[in-house]
Amino acid sequence: MVGTMVPKVIVLSLAGLASLCVNALEVTNIKDCPTLSRRVGGAANVTDLRPDDIKVVAAMGDSITAGAFMLGVDNEEEGFDIRTYSESRGESYSIGGNRDAITLAKFIQNYSPTAQGASIGSRFPTTPCVDENCSILQYEYRPLNDRLNAAISGSMAMNLDRQLDYLITRMKTMIGVNFNQHWKLLTIQIGSNDQCASCNGVLDLSPDAYGKHISTALERIKSSIPRVIVNLLGVFKVSQVYTITEDGPAYCRPQNNDPNTILNRQMCSCFQGADSNRTHMDTIADGYNAKLQEIYEDFKSKQSDTFAVSYMPSDINILGFPIEALSNFDCFHPSLINHQWIAKTSWQNLFVSQPDRQGIWEFDANKKIYCPTEFDRIRIS
Ligand SMILES: *[C@@H]1O[C@H](CO)[C@@H](O)[C@H](O)[C@H]1NC(C)=O
Ligand SMILES: *[C@@H]1O[C@H](CO)[C@@H](O)[C@H](O)[C@H]1NC(C)=O
Ligand SMILES: *[C@@H]1O[C@H](CO)[C@@H](O)[C@H](O)[C@H]1NC(C)=O
Repeated sequence: MVGTMVPKVIVLSLAGLASLCVNALEVTNIKDCPTLSRRVGGAANVTDLRPDDIKVVAAMGDSITAGAFMLGVDNEEEGFDIRTYSESRGESYSIGGNRDAITLAKFIQNYSPTAQGASIGSRFPTTPCVDENCSILQYEYRPLNDRLNAAISGSMAMNLDRQLDYLITRMKTMIGVNFNQHWKLLTIQIGSNDQCASCNGVLDLSPDAYGKHISTALERIKSSIPRVIVNLLGVFKVSQVYTITEDGPAYCRPQNNDPNTILNRQMCSCFQGADSNRTHMDTIADGYNAKLQEIYEDFKSKQSDTFAVSYMPSDINILGFPIEALSNFDCFHPSLINHQWIAKTSWQNLFVSQPDRQGIWEFDANKKIYCPTEFDRIRIS
């Protein structure tokens, strides 16, 4: 009996070894990834960046990047709970810097512990400053929490210029940031609010207008921030959030079982009215992504040794979400587990080529964290 079992054990261990060689190493805690051995001189140019070369992390965007409302409503008691109405900046998928947070910034810090810029803690939301008083009153920022997270809830592409006012000023003055010498990873994701306002015809939210705001921001980054790689994420179809909450699931806490009382109807004005409003949002979203692809191609020709745009389409299949991927506060914003999944997915995608970044993102609460190897670089093409 024993004799016949021995070969079986050998076969199993060989199979295990083979799969280890074929599949990249993945872990549940980034601290379990093998360290990267140091290399002399660091990155030769922007196409040669490893996570340990990044010394500054930054982000721009809307309430998602601000980390708004991700913790949801803790219990069924009504009343004001400060946690519910907060932006959990320290847990934002791209730039959160809380201890043990599962975010891109923390993954970078695992390889580059001194990297500066990750936002921490939580704070009350503020809205974008749009009047002539903006230049004097920086009332929308809380620099001690926000650090280099320039996202402001409610922002659209047109607000990126204002976000850069803050970001550039703060980068230049932050202790631990060598503005000229340090390599910076700047993640941008914007366009959900643009989609949500696109059906009421007040603002020009066409793909052309969206594209102009994005290119203007990228030109400004190129000319005013030294040594930077821009991690530009695509937009996803926000209308799908409406679809998965249309029947008014109890999780979303509708009043008197009326789905129209779910807070996402207030958060996104195109969630009101006829289905044609959501169809319009989808057309706009497709138009924005086509623009982003064009802009990426354009900036490839403007790439230098110290500046590049890395485009990451993020075709998130929201229709496949479990309802818990949304915050139960409004059933609009991503929940904490969703932020963590986006962090892990975008981290892995940083190291894959442009053609291989085209797939659909399927939610997986148990997704593992990719361990980059010595050969991995943050990919631009
Ligand atoms: C960037 O650096 C890498 C690694 O040294 C090198 O192979 C590549 O040719 C460089 N690219 C440019 C554009 O100089
Ligand atoms: C700008 O600030 C001044 C002084 O506080 C105020 O009177 C004015 O209404 C503000 N402008 C706008 C557009 O809010
Ligand atoms: C679409 O949404 C806007 C904003 O909520 C609303 O004013 C408009 O009536 C809606 N259109 C249709 C066709 O329902």
